[in-house]
Amino acid sequence: MNTRPRRNRKSAAIRDMVQETQLGVEHLIFPVFLKDGSDIKEPIDSLPNIYRFSVDVLLKEIESCLELGIRVFDIFPAVAESLKDKTGTYSFNMDSFYLKAIQKIKERFPEATLMSDVALDPYSSDGHDGLVKDGKILNDETLPILAKMSVAQAQAGIDIIGPSDMMDGRVGVIREALDNAGYTETSIMSYTAKYASSFYGPFRDALKSAPKSGDKKTYQMNPANKSEALIEAQLDIEEGADMIMVKPAICYLDVIHLLKENFATPVTAYNVSGEYAMVHAAAQKGWLNYDSAMCEMLLSIRRAGADGILTYFAKDFAKLMQE
Ligand code: PBG
Repeated sequence: MNTRPRRNRKSAAIRDMVQETQLGVEHLIFPVFLKDGSDIKEPIDSLPNIYRFSVDVLLKEIESCLELGIRVFDIFPAVAESLKDKTGTYSFNMDSFYLKAIQKIKERFPEATLMSDVALDPYSSDGHDGLVKDGKILNDETLPILAKMSVAQAQAGIDIIGPSDMMDGRVGVIREALDNAGYTETSIMSYTAKYASSFYGPFRDALKSAPKSGDKKTYQMNPANKSEALIEAQLDIEEGADMIMVKPAICYLDVIHLLKENFATPVTAYNVSGEYAMVHAAAQKGWLNYDSAMCEMLLSIRRAGADGILTYFAKDFAKLMQE
């Protein structure tokens, strides 16, 4: 045999030297949940080791993450049912606990990079990402609300706006609104290929944001489709997205790869709540090893072509790297 691939695997030194994909804490974005109040650290049944924090406790959490090398945080608000309405007005109320918390976090840790989610669902009494009328999700009527929400978030200090709503044309409308308000430096990481997935369940538990009726199939993508992701990506980039995201990650590695191969814009992937919960559930039963399954998942997402990864594993991975 002239070629024996095993020779390049014979020692850790050689394996490390020829390793094609690198994974580090610098690639990770940590999604965190914020709740109104103080001294709150509330567990979420379907998301082990992930909590709803009040801002005072979240500040401590961010501090410990920064010490571990995590620098980017995606902050999601758990909004009380009484504050939700048909049009999601709480989303652009500058006195909201969420936007005030963003200001506080930015004041305390200017070095932390903060990302937000732009969609109506956590603020909407219908639990949909857009306005609902007669059972339909309205596209164009939703756009001005998304634009207002984005400007309010930028004003509060968000560095990266994350439109997750999948309305057509939203990136362009948000870019224009941000620029007109003077926020030319605020980035947009668009949820470009966001699929109508069954892996968002634990997230919807965390925010109590599940749709009150129907599903999200008229705006989120069909899991059977791949070419359609190219159309979404082209539109988002033309409209001004700085980064394009694929979500979920593990079932959609081919889509991550496709976007990476076809566009120069950085690609990110959202390793979603259900993907995290699956690993925890199996590890709790002793069916797989938590640390090695976590590393393999994250590395595979990078190998597929993701530059950055949003993941609930961020803190556990960072701790493992420090050991
Ligand atoms: C809201 C939003 C969702 C997620 C991120 N932003 C849920 C949804 O679209 O229903 C899911 C994240 C996760 O499962 O970790 N638009």
